[in-house]
Amino acid sequence: MEESPFKYQGPLDPADVRGRDELLDDLIGRVTARRVTALVGPRRYGKTSLLRRLAVELTEMSTVWVDLYEVTSMADLVFRVDKALAAADTPFTADAAPFAASLQLRLGVARVEFSRPAKDRPDPVARLGLLLDVLVTTATRVPTLLILDEFSSIATVGGAAGALRTALQHHYTDLGIVFAGSMPSVMRQLFTNRVEPFYAQADLMTIGPLSDAAVTDMVVDGFAATGRGAGLLPGRLTEFAAGHPQRTMQLADAAWRHTPEGGSVDASTWALAVEEVRRVSADPMERLFSHFQRAERDVLRIVASGGAIFGNAAILLDVSHGAAAHARDRLLADGDLIESQEGLTVTDPVLADWIRTTLPL
Ligand SMILES: Nc1ncnc2c1ncn2[C@@H]1O[C@H](COP(=O)(O)OP(=O)(O)OP(=O)(O)O)[C@@H](O)[C@H]1O
Ligand SMILES: [Mg+2]
Repeated sequence: MEESPFKYQGPLDPADVRGRDELLDDLIGRVTARRVTALVGPRRYGKTSLLRRLAVELTEMSTVWVDLYEVTSMADLVFRVDKALAAADTPFTADAAPFAASLQLRLGVARVEFSRPAKDRPDPVARLGLLLDVLVTTATRVPTLLILDEFSSIATVGGAAGALRTALQHHYTDLGIVFAGSMPSVMRQLFTNRVEPFYAQADLMTIGPLSDAAVTDMVVDGFAATGRGAGLLPGRLTEFAAGHPQRTMQLADAAWRHTPEGGSVDASTWALAVEEVRRVSADPMERLFSHFQRAERDVLRIVASGGAIFGNAAILLDVSHGAAAHARDRLLADGDLIESQEGLTVTDPVLADWIRTTLPL
């Protein structure tokens, strides 16, 4: 079967990252100037894809990529850092491995070491210190880009942010450092709250939706490259998904699969694509929605239907000013709502669509 040009699960191949040229140039400039940066954006907005592209663009640097997704403990953090060091580019590992050996350390074996009986396990804090020593020492000799992806997860591991800060703080000029995370409130808290170890240690940079022009180019090119015409897809897609990267790709993929070679997207193709995405996401959307608190559900409903959270719809749903304001703040903090000049929107257009069709107002 022919492969769809629109991938919508997991990070993209670096070469497929489109519509992020400005952000990419900005990041290259920052890393080159050794300005520590924290990239913040909602889930599935293309943070990991963009950073993978960044790593490829910075050909003269080795990348150490630490994935902190759902990190749960200090030992888990050690495991992630160890794995990242072992998996770094060759110029880095060629230098790091002998240095690690001089510290009686082998890289890439933390998982095994931590599965031993308690008395034979390394002390996680001490081990983290050694690994970070390997990182910063190697970085003085080999130009190194350190990516800390899903950094917001670190907030749940006591002492972890402090340990990282202590190890990194005197090396901001040796290493290029980019943090990325999808919980806006947690990321902001980590870098802008005085009590946090990383207070004022990084510039916050936001990743937003894809522009209409970027979506249009991508869709038109993807269809043309596979002998199809995008027809009315760009207009429908930008209206429906409002530049949400992953949903844009999911809908583009569905439309592409309903378009035979030589054909192009018309109103019925688009209807089939939307219907298919609605069908596969109905159960997950229902589950997701049921996990919000009552006032949050009310606010999501009002925002999805284009209403004002202190307007008539709020009266209809019997949600008080106070409860609505509080729910709005929580939804913004968790990245479920976004606020722009046009007002509030539900971040995920498929969730918004599910709410509008299931619970119309
Ligand atoms: N520049 C882009 N152009 C088009 N689609 C993109 C782009 N970046 C990301 N996507 C789409 O979004 C999906 C998710 O991308 P990615 O995993 O990089 O996002 P993320 O923000 O890291 O997500 P998560 O919150 O799950 O870590 C990709 O599979 C792709 O469909
Ligand atoms: Mg990611």
